[in-house]
Amino acid sequence: MVRHNVSLVRFNTFNLPCIAERYLALTDLRQLNGPEFEQAPELVLGGGSNMLLLDRVPGLTVHVALGGITVLNGAPSPPPPASAAKYPLPATTVRVAAGVDWNQFVRYTLDRGWYGFENLILIPGTVGAAPVQNIGAYGAEIAERIEAVHVWEYGVGARVLTPEECAFGYRDSRFKHEPGRFLIIAVDLRLNGDHELKTGYGAIQAELARLNVETPSPNDVALAVTNIRRSKLPDWFFLGNSGSFFKNPVVRKAEHDRLKAVYEDLPSYPIDDDHVKLPAGWLIDRAGLKGVRNDGAVGTYAKQALVLVNHGGASGQEVLAFSKLVQAEVLAKFGVALEREVRLIGT
Ligand code: EPU
Repeated sequence: MVRHNVSLVRFNTFNLPCIAERYLALTDLRQLNGPEFEQAPELVLGGGSNMLLLDRVPGLTVHVALGGITVLNGAPSPPPPASAAKYPLPATTVRVAAGVDWNQFVRYTLDRGWYGFENLILIPGTVGAAPVQNIGAYGAEIAERIEAVHVWEYGVGARVLTPEECAFGYRDSRFKHEPGRFLIIAVDLRLNGDHELKTGYGAIQAELARLNVETPSPNDVALAVTNIRRSKLPDWFFLGNSGSFFKNPVVRKAEHDRLKAVYEDLPSYPIDDDHVKLPAGWLIDRAGLKGVRNDGAVGTYAKQALVLVNHGGASGQEVLAFSKLVQAEVLAKFGVALEREVRLIGT
């Protein structure tokens, strides 16, 4: 049932006030045959974790609340308790409905002794939103383990997209480039099988050493990632935020060399022979903007400058204005343009 003038403040991790003109919760696939799904709604809302909501969303907001996890093949039945799991386990495919909370899904796998998503623990948002920006952390990305994405194509009907058809990239996919074409309803994910744990990130190695773990299990990696994330990223339940607000900019190597000559401690990650990725958090930090706050309720997080936070009572317009100041300062100091990672929604 479509409701009118519904507040989205509880449905976005930035805790920003916003009114949806019309609002529909999608809880059952049969609803897709209704007139609301003949064309794209103004907004498809999952966990509301990667968006900056302005005051009002005109038109229809569809809140995806489809639930359920189905094991398609490969998993031992009944699943072994985590401690008894023998590695490697047979490769397993699970079909996860779009409305399932991503972190609850990761915990569901780890509780069964399954593995593959341990690096992606604690990422806020839903499974349906995860492929859109190809969520990633600590050397892993969801795209590596996507077998298929089940979509509703407005005006066409149900379709299944292969990973190639999804055109995944760094925080990127076809779904970002063709907004308004598809609604993700479920994702088939590959678990278990031959799998090398990704512990290459310095922060993970340091945390495993601190935990005195020499031969890590997937659960150890998950614990290390949990500890790192908790130490750097604010819990939106207490401090509204949308994770990394900007993307890490990719610059030409010559541009990197020019900066490196001035800032010897500039961290960088090579992309190809001619391009280098720079950490936006470092740039914002070194522009003197870590842990700062405007006259109102918006600032950068004290432990991670790339995260903008709502100290309570901020509006989307206020966050947007603050983010433009951050962009301007970084451009003035380093000559590097920061691009938003979060989506700007509404008016
Ligand atoms: N840094 C600073 N000061 C800061 C923040 C960072 O100097 O205030 C430096 C760090 O010391 C490090 C570098 O910048 O040398 C990178 O920082 P970090 O390891 O925290 O990672 P990030 O590049 O800021 C990215 C993702 C995160 C993901 C982490 C770990 C993007 C835009 N962000 O952050 O993803 O959790 O790596 O893999 O790629 C998200 O997308 O919402 C998100 C949190």
